[in-house]
Amino acid sequence: MEGWKELYNQCYSCNKCGLAQMRKNMVFGEGNLKADIMFIGEAPGADEDEQGKPFVGKAGQLLTKALTALDLYRDKDYYICNICKCRPENNRTPLEEEALSCLPYLRNQVALVRPKIIVCLGATALKYVMGENLKITKDRGRWIERKGYYLIATFHPAALFRDESKKQLFWQDLKSIKEKYDEIRGEK
Ligand code: URA
Repeated sequence: MEGWKELYNQCYSCNKCGLAQMRKNMVFGEGNLKADIMFIGEAPGADEDEQGKPFVGKAGQLLTKALTALDLYRDKDYYICNICKCRPENNRTPLEEEALSCLPYLRNQVALVRPKIIVCLGATALKYVMGENLKITKDRGRWIERKGYYLIATFHPAALFRDESKKQLFWQDLKSIKEKYDEIRGEK
């Protein structure tokens, strides 16, 4: 396992897949490095690629706003990153080979943060973190305990723009995450 600096440098100079050629910026992740909650998305979009920060575009702003309403803040309560650290062109879903070559970096981030709660945002994060056999429509909102982590998936915030009817379940899931967080912190 690498420390933060080494891991960042590895990602910064990574050339393992084709996404590296097209990136403006590698998007490593940000937030509290010792957070109890870790959010995992799919891959950077155009705004993230531009700024080198995760979830700063339209979908990210929606997520940040919803979490703020629950009194959860990026610099204090959670760490947020993606399966892939580089943007796929036109925001396509990362190819399996791209996701798999990036996953060791994510595993290292998880090992360094050591969150209690891991939240998968959308189908890509669900597939690579929680398992191929799970489906976002069927399995979102359900807690799983594995290797000392509480895992849960919810819709990717970008999906809410395409289908407004997902908003209610998304909100329900975020409230469940906040409840688990409060429960865990009460136990400390
Ligand atoms: N979508 C993601 O999955 N991640 C980001 O950082 C931005 C949009």
